[in-house]
Amino acid sequence: MQEQQEEVTKIREAFDQEFGRFADLDLDGRGVTDAESLLREVGELKIKHTGKKSAFAGAMKLIGKVAPEERGNFGKFVQSVEKEIVSKIEESEKRLAEFISNAKIESERLDVTLPGRRPRTGHLHPITILRQKIEDIFVSMGYSIEDDREIETDYYNFDALNIPEGHPARESQDTFYTTDGFALRSQTSTVQIRAMERRGVPIRIIAPGKVFRRDTPDMTHVPMFHQIEGLCVDKSITMAHLKGTVTEWLKRLFGEDTITRFRPSYFPFTEPSAEFDFSCFKCHGTGQYDGVRCRPCKGSGWIELGGSGMVHPNVLRAVGVDPQVYSGFAFGFGLERMCALMYSIDDIRLMFENDVRFLEQFK
Ligand code: DAH
Repeated sequence: MQEQQEEVTKIREAFDQEFGRFADLDLDGRGVTDAESLLREVGELKIKHTGKKSAFAGAMKLIGKVAPEERGNFGKFVQSVEKEIVSKIEESEKRLAEFISNAKIESERLDVTLPGRRPRTGHLHPITILRQKIEDIFVSMGYSIEDDREIETDYYNFDALNIPEGHPARESQDTFYTTDGFALRSQTSTVQIRAMERRGVPIRIIAPGKVFRRDTPDMTHVPMFHQIEGLCVDKSITMAHLKGTVTEWLKRLFGEDTITRFRPSYFPFTEPSAEFDFSCFKCHGTGQYDGVRCRPCKGSGWIELGGSGMVHPNVLRAVGVDPQVYSGFAFGFGLERMCALMYSIDDIRLMFENDVRFLEQFK
């Protein structure tokens, strides 16, 4: 039996040698996938050393070569060795499986007491905020909001607005042209024509939108900016209606004590024409704020806003409206400068750079 016992011992030693690295495996710092592949290797060793085709299964056949009186003892010996091998393997499988399960639980752990991460919500652009405020005011006064195209023909941008070819006003409103004769509108006044063609008269609209000028960007100029146009045409509309309307919406925007001022001016599409100013929202027209020269109005007490006037008969004729029957007023102003003054922004280019650090200030 000595010989057979030695053979079984050799088989066990071969197992021990192969299994050695799993015997006291250090799992510290290992990942789940690493541990899973170790577990697979242990499974393979299990088949190799205890399966039906294993060297150990072969050892069982040695029993026939042992003297009959020693078979009982030999059998016990083989069994104890098998038990030892199986328990080593199972222990190692158990350790690995536990490690894997713990590591998974740890990685999926959710600490509900941790402070949450606030989602970064967006908000409206300052120009949009101002535009919507003004739109609300006009809607409450019975006006509708008219939206129209940004690419126009010379006819709508100039001719129909009483600015014929060669008129000096074309020069100051030089814009961008496409190669096939279209122009990016240089003023929202184009919508006066479009809206009257579409809706006829009487009409009360405001038209907010983008306009374009061939300007080199600097602190107070950008080649694309926003305007709001207003138009009211009906029977018996007079300059008093213009003054009343402009005064009213500025009071609603800047407060009841706002005063409006009209200065004679010239625009091709209105006659008479006037520029309008309003008393400074900061110093209330005094020109002084905190004992020093007021910034938004540069100490004058007034802020210049836009142009206005009584719709020129030629403009009404261009859309087939009889100026003997109908009259109207129109006005237009830019949003960027107004917005810059309200929010103390000294460079209007900032409004188009989309820098969140800048925009976040206007929630
Ligand atoms: N379109 C003019 C501009 O861009 C502003 C303007 C002036 C509009 C007088 C009007 C108006 O409707 O009546 O400078």
